[in-house]
Amino acid sequence: MKQVYLDTYGCQMNVADTSRMELLLFHSGYLRTGEVEDADLVLINTCSIREKAEQKIYSLAGSLKPLKEANPDLILGVTGCLAQQEGEQMLQKMPFLDLILGPDGVENIVQAVDEVRNTNHPVVWTHFDSAKNYRIPELSNETPLHPGPSAFVNIIKGCDKFCTFCVVPFTRGREKSREAEEIEREVRLLVSRGAKEIILLGQNVNAYGKRGLDQPVPFHELLYRVASIPGVERLRFTTSHPMDFTRECIEAYRDIDVLVNHLHLPVQSGSNRVLQEMRRGHTVEEYVALIDALRAEVPDISLSTDIIVGFPEETDSEFEDTLALMERVEFSSSYMFCYSPRPDTPAQDFPDSVPLSVKSARLQRTMRLQDRLTGEQGRRFLNREVEVLVEGRTSKRGADFKGRNPQYWMVNFTGDREMIQPGDWVTVVVEEVFGHAFKGRAVSRVREGKRVDFKADAPAAIE
Ligand code: 5AD
Ligand code: SF4
Repeated sequence: MKQVYLDTYGCQMNVADTSRMELLLFHSGYLRTGEVEDADLVLINTCSIREKAEQKIYSLAGSLKPLKEANPDLILGVTGCLAQQEGEQMLQKMPFLDLILGPDGVENIVQAVDEVRNTNHPVVWTHFDSAKNYRIPELSNETPLHPGPSAFVNIIKGCDKFCTFCVVPFTRGREKSREAEEIEREVRLLVSRGAKEIILLGQNVNAYGKRGLDQPVPFHELLYRVASIPGVERLRFTTSHPMDFTRECIEAYRDIDVLVNHLHLPVQSGSNRVLQEMRRGHTVEEYVALIDALRAEVPDISLSTDIIVGFPEETDSEFEDTLALMERVEFSSSYMFCYSPRPDTPAQDFPDSVPLSVKSARLQRTMRLQDRLTGEQGRRFLNREVEVLVEGRTSKRGADFKGRNPQYWMVNFTGDREMIQPGDWVTVVVEEVFGHAFKGRAVSRVREGKRVDFKADAPAAIE
């Protein structure tokens, strides 16, 4: 078999796209390798959401040039959002590349690679798929599909929100949902292969059902349907937009046992003027009201968010409003970014007026505040038992295994290596908090409905 080396940058959509390309290429005779030097095909799946991500990828692709010079048969490709954004231009900057393929071309990866081989010419594949429906065809059972305890399932692609700072609508195209029956079939398959936790994926999952379906199904209904599939023991989704977060979604959190008590809900800014310039479509007050309504139904829900600092013309006091909102909501974690202008976006034409030094100083302040908020919330779990789905072994000192609790904290813990395996449910006593992670000790395990309590003197981890 030929070998493919795949490298992924960016969001979970890209991680899912890489897995899909691995599967499609497997069917056409490629096995994935971890050694780039052994590969016949190298694909870098890229991100262009911020300037920094873009710079990193250009330097990485450049570093692969000697491989191509040493082996002219090697096919070197760039896929994903940066490929879509740059298209032909990328080939001009890096003529040693053989393939440029945007996110909508993932299903055509084999065809595109064949075209490169057959024509001996670079292929640029950046047109959007024009089909009304978003389908991910099922492949035969002979696939290397080993999902592990936690598996992603794409439910929607693209985004129609057009926030003024965001390149996603240009790189991933128009919003399109996948038929619920197809999603359910995939979930059943994953569960039959050992998955216990399903993570529904999309740029804006709660816009699910609005476009691209023959039979419209609202997002909350999809949640109930997936949750009722036997074997789905945990359900998560990411990412949501506050504008599409309905009362029915809140009720789903209240009513669906397997839906975890965690929500990632990007807010971006705590200033109404900035939110308006960002075209987010809601105010700070509306966001807070939504969170309050959710907490009224699910008091122990944890919330995470995305924050942008230094948006064009953001003043000191508008930035302070963002800090105040973070305090008010008490996010358990945040992804925090300095604004950078992106090609094609409306904000690219706004004056990028906040100096880099000010952006960096603001970013530091949001990070310090988030550290404090994370610490405060983490300490509430100290000496308490948390339920963890075991993902696997950890390389963290003083711990054997890792997994997550329902509120999405990473839990590293000690436990008997003979007694615990990935996919088990364990109860862990939290003993320490480190950033957005806990360290603790497993006290019991549930496997196939049977509970085993561990003795207090269970062997400790070897450091
Ligand atoms: N500059 C900085 N951050 C950005 N994000 C998206 N576009 C930009 C940009 N131009 C952030 C937003 C989004 C997350 C995925 O990336 O916070 O929610
Ligand atoms: Fe980008 Fe806004 Fe769509 Fe999120 S909702 S992907 S920030 S355009």
